[in-house]
Amino acid sequence: MKTSRVLGTVVGGGLAVLALLQLVPYGRAHQNPPAGAPVAWDSPRTEELARRACWDCHSNQTKWPWYSNLAPISWRIQRHVDEGREKLNFTDFQPGNEKVAEHAGESAEAVQKGEMPLSDYLLAHPEARLNATEKAELIRGLEKTFAAFAEKGEGGEVSRGAPGDVRRTDTAGPEGENAAHERAEGESGR
Ligand code: HEC
Repeated sequence: MKTSRVLGTVVGGGLAVLALLQLVPYGRAHQNPPAGAPVAWDSPRTEELARRACWDCHSNQTKWPWYSNLAPISWRIQRHVDEGREKLNFTDFQPGNEKVAEHAGESAEAVQKGEMPLSDYLLAHPEARLNATEKAELIRGLEKTFAAFAEKGEGGEVSRGAPGDVRRTDTAGPEGENAAHERAEGESGR
């Protein structure tokens, strides 16, 4: 009797908190802005795989599941979509933006390393899971599609600081050069 009353209070309290969380306006707008310039895919197959595994966060054609309306999960989903679109948007591709170009060049590697798609997304989206063959296809396809941006990603880091690198010889003295170097290290060491 006593236990069930305590339990009732706990459950009731939990539900009340959950209900209150729903009043926070963040994470409910769920906009899919109009598409801009799409990526020029190397093949329809690469696009198909990217649509399956990346589209919900890296395009303006997000499919919002019912629980994307339920705080606090909705907050996490909103942040992932906002950040994903900002980093690399496959339906509104802005290669003129240096960061975007860099991320495009890194995209094959992100899949290779298993960093993308995000693992909690895969839990809820079995259709986005790629088997080994599909994963290899997507990696190769992303490499080809974004070949022009490859040097902005990993390749660029190899040449950074290489002998004969004249880019930073104009900095004032050895101290200035060090500072510039440290800044560059900081940027690449995310
Ligand atoms: C659940 C949402 C989600 C999915 C699905 C997803 N991404 Fe991301 N992606 C993000 C977020 C959030 C970031 C920025 C934060 C981070 O890097 O973890 C990001 C960052 C990136 C970056 C920038 C580099 C980096 O690691 O920060 C690349 C490249 C990328 N994603 C590629 C992909 C590719 C390719 C796919 C499909 C195979 C994919 N993503 C699927 C959410 C997602």
